Amino acid sequence: MIDKTNEKQISRKKFMLKLSLGLAGACAALAAIPVMSALLAPILETKKAQWRNVGNPEGFEIGSTSLVNFTNADPEPYAGVTAQSAAWLRRTDKDNFIAFAVNCSHLGCPVRWEAQAELFMCPCHGGVYYKDGTVAAGPPPNPLTKYDVRVSNGQVQIKTASLPFTA
Ligand code: FES
Repeated sequence: MIDKTNEKQISRKKFMLKLSLGLAGACAALAAIPVMSALLAPILETKKAQWRNVGNPEGFEIGSTSLVNFTNADPEPYAGVTAQSAAWLRRTDKDNFIAFAVNCSHLGCPVRWEAQAELFMCPCHGGVYYKDGTVAAGPPPNPLTKYDVRVSNGQVQIKTASLPFTA
C-alpha cells in the first residue's frame, strides 16, 4: 500500500527539481547574451564598415584641416540626422590624409580645430590635442581616434567605424 502523503512529497520534489533546472537554464541563457554579443561584435562591426566619399582630393590644401561629413555605415531608416557623422580631415602631403574623429577621447564632446594655434580644443573639460591628434593637455586619456582614409576613384574616402571611448 502506497502512502498518499509520501507520494505527494515525491511529486513535489520532482516538481521543485524540474523548476530549479528550468530556472538555472534560463539564468545561464541570460548570462550568455552579453558574452555572445562581445564575441560576435567584431564580426558584426566589420560587416558594417563602409568607405564613404568625403570630397575630391584637390578640394583640400596641403597642410589644411577641414571638417567633413559622411553617412554612418549602416543607418537605420528612422535614424534621421543621427545617421550623419563628421571627421577632421588633415591633408599632410600630396598623397596622404589623416582623418580624426571629432569626438574627444575623454567623454566624447566634439572638438573644434583652431587653425592659427594648430590645435584641437575640447570645450567640455579643456582637453587639447596637437595637429597630429596626440594629447597636448587636459584630461583626455588617449589621442583622437583615427579613421582609415584612402584616395580611390578620384575621391578621398573615410572608412566608417564605431569609436572607442573611455569613461
Ligand atoms: S570631453 Fe573633452 S576634455 Fe572632457
